[in-house]
Amino acid sequence: MIEVGVIGAGTMGSGIAQVAAQSGHNVWLFDTNQAALDKATASLKKVMARLVEKGKKTSEETEAIISRVNVCTDVSAFKNCGIVIEAIIENIEVKKSVFTAVEKEVSAECIIASNTSSLSIASIAASCSKPERVVGIHFFNPAPLMPLVEIIPAVQTSDTTLKSAKDLIDSWKKVTVITKDTPGFIVNRVARPFYGEALRIYEEGIADMATIDWAMKEIGGFKMGPFELMDYIGNDINYTVTETVFTAFYFDPRYRPSFTQKRMMEANYLGRKTGRGYYNYAEGAAMPEPDKNQVVGEAIVWRILIMLINEAVDALHLNIASKQDIDLAMTKGVNYPKGLLKWADEKGIQNVLDGLDKLYLAYHEERYRASVLLRQKAAFQQSFY
Ligand SMILES: NC(=O)c1ccc[n+]([C@@H]2O[C@H](COP(=O)([O-])OP(=O)(O)OC[C@H]3O[C@@H](n4cnc5c(N)ncnc54)[C@H](O)[C@@H]3O)[C@@H](O)[C@H]2O)c1
Repeated sequence: MIEVGVIGAGTMGSGIAQVAAQSGHNVWLFDTNQAALDKATASLKKVMARLVEKGKKTSEETEAIISRVNVCTDVSAFKNCGIVIEAIIENIEVKKSVFTAVEKEVSAECIIASNTSSLSIASIAASCSKPERVVGIHFFNPAPLMPLVEIIPAVQTSDTTLKSAKDLIDSWKKVTVITKDTPGFIVNRVARPFYGEALRIYEEGIADMATIDWAMKEIGGFKMGPFELMDYIGNDINYTVTETVFTAFYFDPRYRPSFTQKRMMEANYLGRKTGRGYYNYAEGAAMPEPDKNQVVGEAIVWRILIMLINEAVDALHLNIASKQDIDLAMTKGVNYPKGLLKWADEKGIQNVLDGLDKLYLAYHEERYRASVLLRQKAAFQQSFY
């Protein structure tokens, strides 16, 4: 079994190290900050103890997992690794210099992967003398619990690298999808309207946050409402992803960030982590009551859903991923109750198109333009499945 290197012992790196060790690999977890390594070791021990308490693992098993995670502060520890996965700060220059340095230490066959959420894999790969060994492997947070992993070949990535990376992550019992090296990959692109359209509905005064959250959960079947979820993710992180995707798509108005969310970030109303976001998480603070009006609720869900479907259809139209992978990504990466293309079939392609055209007619905004693929499917009365 190959040895696995992980660069960066923060939230994602420590989770990825745990997943690899649980699958039986010897792991080298590298960080320049000793405090991060200490924290990662302590938290792995805590998580393992909890698994024993819950009866999910024996203490022998967890001791073996812990002993397989070796921390290091020198990349020379990667010399026998079959793969090294990078999960350091989201900064292209820092990532490039780390890839250049790591490539000097690893074997000729070693794959070097990045867990970046928003940077181009092609630009990271270009920092290596063998860019064909570089691939994107994008886990979701928390890595040990979230089943989805997006695998992203860059233009330089060889077929062998892509296949080995996919086979390895499949062997870790993850659900893998293959996506093009474009901003936001699948999930962080297709999910934008879940937040953006909810914020727009709120800004227009159609409904308050509690009502939008209620509608999306009770009528839409989503596990969390958009505002609850933004508070959970953190308004700083969620806003930054939106702004990054917007900029990366050359300011396509479909992805325009919202002032409401920007102000929340500026006010340090980041969500659960600061005790205050769209909701107040202080002890004893009352949660606002939704207005459980079925007609309004259904209109909210429909508007957000057709915007999500439109993104999924456009991603398919531009060959970002297969229809199966687009649907899998949204159900396994962000827990949507149904794949969006399957949902489109169920709701009727023509109905979805009519809904978008109605919005477009009302607003005359590019944001509401329907994907040409949706229009074609409707014209030929075809479905996605
Ligand atoms: N947090 C998420 O929800 C999430 C989800 C998917 C992907 N990602 C991506 O994963 C990566 C890491 O994110 P995170 O949230 O784990 O960050 P984090 O801040 O929790 O951890 C980053 C770690 O990298 C270390 N580090 C920084 N520069 C380094 C260097 N030059 N060499 C070695 N170690 C270095 C830091 O000491 C820190 O421990 C980013 O690219 C991010 O976009 C994050």
